Amino acid sequence: MMSAPAKVILFGEHAVVYGQPAIAAPVSSLRARATFQASPAGSGLVLVTLGGDEDISRIPIDPMDVNSAFSTTVRLVLNYFQRPAPNGTIVIESEIPIASGLGSGAAVTTALARAVAEALEKTLPLEDLNALVFEVEKFYHGTPSGIDNTVIVYETPIYFIKNHVMDRLVIGAPFAILIADTGVAASTKTAVSDVRRFYTSRPDRVQPLLSSIGAITNRARQAIEDGDIASLGPLMMQNHAVLRTLGVSSPALENLVDTALKAGALGAKLSGGGRGGNMIALTTPELAESVERSLIEAGAVRVYKTTLG
Ligand code: PMV
Repeated sequence: MMSAPAKVILFGEHAVVYGQPAIAAPVSSLRARATFQASPAGSGLVLVTLGGDEDISRIPIDPMDVNSAFSTTVRLVLNYFQRPAPNGTIVIESEIPIASGLGSGAAVTTALARAVAEALEKTLPLEDLNALVFEVEKFYHGTPSGIDNTVIVYETPIYFIKNHVMDRLVIGAPFAILIADTGVAASTKTAVSDVRRFYTSRPDRVQPLLSSIGAITNRARQAIEDGDIASLGPLMMQNHAVLRTLGVSSPALENLVDTALKAGALGAKLSGGGRGGNMIALTTPELAESVERSLIEAGAVRVYKTTLG
């Protein structure tokens, strides 16, 4: 069985598409899994996806199909190793909600690519797996920055700048975040293209917003490395305010961010593409439970806890 984690973006989403830095971390307790079972020669390769609601789909994989992200993943792995498709079934199971900013697409692709490699009795080096998953991310996002595939493939907190070698982030002192799902599925592709339209029509207005997100992210990196958790909360709020001005928040996100702050969170912001999906809140261990309760009462459909560092 092969797997890959979910992820959260802590700082810098959207601005990262324009070359600004961003910070992301894996959520190792939430995973996508892919298991290969061999079958007799000539039976082909079949993909079985088990959805969260127990719905099952069986898709015969044609590695030449360029219109499917699954087939593209399989084809890229087969091409990489110069091997024909193995005969068997790959079962994909994911605990990661889709279209919610937790990187479900990149996690499923990563787990699937690892399972195909395993079926060939091979292992993909992380750097090459990362490049491969990035290719498939284009199916989901159009023009991805590459942050999702990088944090998920390497499964480590990262400081990321598009088209640069990523930096592993050193965490000076552990901190806990809550990840709360608005339950509103939102397309990252649409949010990214709306920001692009805003940028194209008003670069004079949008460029300073993107640069300010970059500056906030750099201050957050310093605070995380120094173990200065107290500074992180206000930085999250500043980052959220700029994202709101960029037009990627939503009433449901605003509601959960306000709720978390009123319940005593040190900071809160949307995470990922926005418009719905997830928000994150920084809490102390003492406050985590009551902030979580407040978020559920305010309408969050799920709350996950994760500790970084
Ligand atoms: O996949 P999501 O929804 O977590 O968001 C990706 C982050 C963006 O910065 C909005 C897009 C990108 O490609 O970096």
